[in-house]
Amino acid sequence: MVKEKACVFISGVGSNLKSIIYNSRESNFPINVSLVLSNNNKAQGINHARKFAIPFKILDGNIDKFENNALKEISDRNIKLICLAGFMRILSKNFIRRFKGKIINIHPSLLPRYKGLNTFKRALKNKDKFTGCTVHYVDEKLDNGRIIIKKRVNINNDDNESDLKKRVQLEERIVYSMAIRKIFKK
Ligand code: GRF
Repeated sequence: MVKEKACVFISGVGSNLKSIIYNSRESNFPINVSLVLSNNNKAQGINHARKFAIPFKILDGNIDKFENNALKEISDRNIKLICLAGFMRILSKNFIRRFKGKIINIHPSLLPRYKGLNTFKRALKNKDKFTGCTVHYVDEKLDNGRIIIKKRVNINNDDNESDLKKRVQLEERIVYSMAIRKIFKK
């Protein structure tokens, strides 16, 4: 099977990156992670790229500079999918248009509920019975594009933010790769 090339954008821990890399080692997984880009030179996730000898670049500076450099890196490599995995910058409309239908993101809530930050805190404050995570295409509005997959996670009465985050993130690591398979119908 010929695998498509993907690039993952990260800013932090990189647990989603790690799970995508692990799954991409399966022969029938549709993509290979060919490049990891981070806007943060302290992102722990870079170590996963290092460990698996995946090319990575730290592109600091403002978002314009990041995008210009990212564009150069991506154009050189025939990248078919950009996965945002804990990437904490908002991409410009131009960049998103340039890669229309090729950028996906994971968000820690059941979209369209709780776009933006502090999703766990907000779900707990509202005494929701469940929350979850969503993988979606990125469009020009924040956390708004077409949904690829959602996974529900129950909220227990005694959950605090950190309990909930842990349980949702366990599911994230599974659904991100499911979404990638779904996109490529594998
Ligand atoms: C995840 O919770 C994801 O939903 C959000 O940022 C977090 C990133 O975690 N967008 P990690 O860096 O993949 O561990």
